[in-house]
Amino acid sequence: MSARADALVETELERQFLDQLRAASGEVDGPMERHCVRLFLFAEMLAAERGVEIDRELVLCAAFMHDAGLYDSISHGGVYTDEGGEHAARLFERAGAPPERVRMIADACAQHHALRDQSRRGTEVELMRLADRIEALMRANRGSGASSKRGIARPLSQSVLKIRGRLSGRWRSACASSPATPE
Ligand SMILES: [Fe+2]
Repeated sequence: MSARADALVETELERQFLDQLRAASGEVDGPMERHCVRLFLFAEMLAAERGVEIDRELVLCAAFMHDAGLYDSISHGGVYTDEGGEHAARLFERAGAPPERVRMIADACAQHHALRDQSRRGTEVELMRLADRIEALMRANRGSGASSKRGIARPLSQSVLKIRGRLSGRWRSACASSPATPE
């Protein structure tokens, strides 16, 4: 079965992360998987918009695993964002990733709900955080839409509009869908 996520996978490690997400969630191309795909696409587009290069494998793997701590097979009863990061870090370690990449993927998952800029932890960490906020804003816009026009949300709202304008037909449906989206 081919899903949108399969089309993004280019490396063995990315395949491993997607397989683990599917094993944990118990489904292929389910709401969580589509949420993860959207996060990756938003992060990638934000990077392009800002003209920064990213560690694509790290961002895609982080996107697949960032909420995986919600699942019993991965959680040990702790903070789910931390547990997703710890699990992702173990997989990177096992794959022979250098300590800095291991630390970065742990932070990209663990800090995706952080309220403040995480650029000091790495571009990929900050982009995952912003991508998650875009996802939340899009969800809010499908509801009242009122909260996205104020304060800190405004720059991201502008990014949402730009991103909507740039989405190719292939991805538009992925980003416009409104599944019962996890956080
Ligand atoms: Fe999420």
